[in-house]
Amino acid sequence: MDYRNKRVLVTGGLGFIGSNLAIRLVELGANVTVIDSSRPGCGANPHNLEPVADRVRLLPLDVGEAQQYADVLRECQVVFNLAGEVSHIHSMMAPERDLEINAAAQLRFLEVLRRERPGVRVVYAGTRQVYGVPQYLPVDEQHPVEPVDYNGVHKFAASQYHLMLSRLGALDAVVLRLTNVYGPRMALSVPCQGVLSTFLRRALLGQELEVYEDGELIRDPVYVDDVVEAFLLAGAAASLRRRTYNIGGPEAMPLRQIAQVVAQLAGVRVVTKPFPPERKSIDIGSYRADSSRFQHHFGWRARVSFQDGIRRSLAWYREHWDRYLDTRRPTFCGMPEHQGRKRRLALVPAS
Ligand SMILES: NC(=O)c1ccc[n+]([C@@H]2O[C@H](COP(=O)([O-])OP(=O)(O)OC[C@H]3O[C@@H](n4cnc5c(N)ncnc54)[C@H](O)[C@@H]3O)[C@@H](O)[C@H]2O)c1
Repeated sequence: MDYRNKRVLVTGGLGFIGSNLAIRLVELGANVTVIDSSRPGCGANPHNLEPVADRVRLLPLDVGEAQQYADVLRECQVVFNLAGEVSHIHSMMAPERDLEINAAAQLRFLEVLRRERPGVRVVYAGTRQVYGVPQYLPVDEQHPVEPVDYNGVHKFAASQYHLMLSRLGALDAVVLRLTNVYGPRMALSVPCQGVLSTFLRRALLGQELEVYEDGELIRDPVYVDDVVEAFLLAGAAASLRRRTYNIGGPEAMPLRQIAQVVAQLAGVRVVTKPFPPERKSIDIGSYRADSSRFQHHFGWRARVSFQDGIRRSLAWYREHWDRYLDTRRPTFCGMPEHQGRKRRLALVPAS
């Protein structure tokens, strides 16, 4: 993995995973450009890139406005494409907003990219959400695609743009279907970003953690450093044996146990609650990724245990508290810009 002096583009690089990736790339000697529109409701935070602020070129643009930065595309050697919206709930509240962010903007971006930089390696941040309710566990890449929310549909469409253009020889893309990612630089003050974000926020604020019903649903959280490693490997591979890979965490556990680990390390309690109907309808049940294809092809494995990852995360947020746990500011979801009215979301756990 030699990124020294490589010109790389990170879309969504002010967000959680993108910023961790951009920082690592700078450490490896890459010449990094970040494109991020700081879309309200998503996880952009200027503080995320603070450690490398003077070594990253930041273009505050929508990824779909690619004509405006065509010169960057022309020069870049690897594209890490992480611009997107993660919230399943947001996608059901404002489907067209999700369509615009996760599919239409991606289509516009890829159309310019393939013209300006044909054949370039693109690593796209896909999601396990495309599978919908698993028919078997662990879920491998052959599992049927039957998403249960708009986010899954639109992310799948964007994945297919990448794969179709690669079949045509216009790009050289690989899609990493990520499970729940957690760690430093998550947008803890933005609601509906997923269960780990909610647990970490509540734990840090000294609030009890809520699990729905008996908390039996399984998740396999993966620490962000392991995900960054997977992106780096996929971006640097001389050739690709497959174009779609699952990326899961090292341990699969019931949400009750996940909550207990966080609660124990933070010194708070776990309580059970009935499943809110709007969440139940789009819940995928239990999920565990089969990441063996990526492990075999890239020699990767998730190294950070959940206990260790949560310990590191809590310590990091305590050090950067004021940038990530702003309790004075009201927290709005991303819908106002779309619907023309402000709507406050309760800070409730999500799965
Ligand atoms: N975090 C997870 O657990 C997870 C799981 C599966 C997939 N993913 C995917 O990984 C990617 C990154 O996720 P994240 O957790 O870092 O989210 P994030 O919200 O923290 O970061 C996404 C960034 O993309 C930016 N963005 C959104 N639309 C944009 C646009 N049109 N143009 C430019 N910038 C835009 C946002 O401003 C934000 O900074 C997303 O594509 C997401 O779907 C994340």
